[in-house]
Amino acid sequence: MPVNPALETLMLVFSPDEDGVPRDRCLFLGAEPHPALSEWSDIVGWQPLKPKADAWERAGFERIDHLGDRKFPLAIFLPGKSRDETLAGFAIARDALVPGGRIVTALPNTSGAARFEKEFAKATGEVESIQKHKCRAFHAVHGDSWNETLFDEWRALAIPRAIDGSPFVTTAGVFSEGRIDPGSKLLADHLPASIRGKVADLGAGWGYLSDCVLRRCPDVERVDLFEADARALACARSNLADHPSRDLGFHWHDVTTGVPGGFDAVVMNPPFHSGQAEDVGLGRSFLATAAAALRRGGRLFLVANRQLPYESVLTELGFAHRSPAGNETYKLIFADKR
Ligand SMILES: C[S@@+](CC[C@H](N)C(=O)[O-])C[C@H]1O[C@@H](n2cnc3c(N)ncnc32)[C@H](O)[C@@H]1O
Repeated sequence: MPVNPALETLMLVFSPDEDGVPRDRCLFLGAEPHPALSEWSDIVGWQPLKPKADAWERAGFERIDHLGDRKFPLAIFLPGKSRDETLAGFAIARDALVPGGRIVTALPNTSGAARFEKEFAKATGEVESIQKHKCRAFHAVHGDSWNETLFDEWRALAIPRAIDGSPFVTTAGVFSEGRIDPGSKLLADHLPASIRGKVADLGAGWGYLSDCVLRRCPDVERVDLFEADARALACARSNLADHPSRDLGFHWHDVTTGVPGGFDAVVMNPPFHSGQAEDVGLGRSFLATAAAALRRGGRLFLVANRQLPYESVLTELGFAHRSPAGNETYKLIFADKR
């Protein structure tokens, strides 16, 4: 994986020019490997996204799934794309600090770095800042003047919340946070009740499509949810708790590495954004995984943005396919594995 420019900028805080910034015993929230980190003697990473968590471990670093009560003199934080996730992350970093510890964070300018630096300064007072690589890194040392009330507000943003008018909960930073995705809704509205047997939900998010399958399709025996974001998967467990009599599997998993085979049906709204850049390759890789996971005669039900060229990929993979519905933004593709 190429190094994230925000991480490059963050690392400048620890360069020899910025003397005095200590780097011992560090918690890295949103951990991603960087060559310079291999010189750090004591660093532990938390990363909810499976492909990045795998990259972190492959690079030889220690990873934790739960933050617990451990405290650190240094917390570095690479936020994702959501506002609430970023503000909640500041509070989580704060909670992990020993008195007098330091938070260092960095964001791309296009993700509102200047705005978030101002928010951070509201809570911490004095902030030091570096701008490079079209990103901004900023940091502050804990002291009595930190605004704990503001951190309390931000901490609450990480608590899963119900979507208005629905039984579903989502949490900060996950796909389709606080709403049902309109593409997924279109697919849910057209899923046939005849789906049966073993079903895989690839990129299952917080469980919306799986819930629909379980409600609509009485002959489904089992649903396996494969999802890269551990936070979304935790929401899915809670969102599917209403189906105690059904056989469910929750897998924190990178779908591009394949899934076990033998499924009768696959449902999915494949991702096509990895980070900020459009990545049709990720969607293609999901289709290849679906093809390998289905038994002969198995059925694939997917929704995609209109412009994505998935039909040709499905033909290459040996599917017979049709588009039963669509609108200005989305198309449904139903396919049978020959
Ligand atoms: C377009 S969303 C659909 C989510 C959910 N199925 C729905 O309909 O609301 C795609 C999902 O794929 C997940 N994802 C992205 N890359 C992944 C990967 N490599 N392996 C597994 N899941 C991935 C994202 O976290 C996201 O939840």
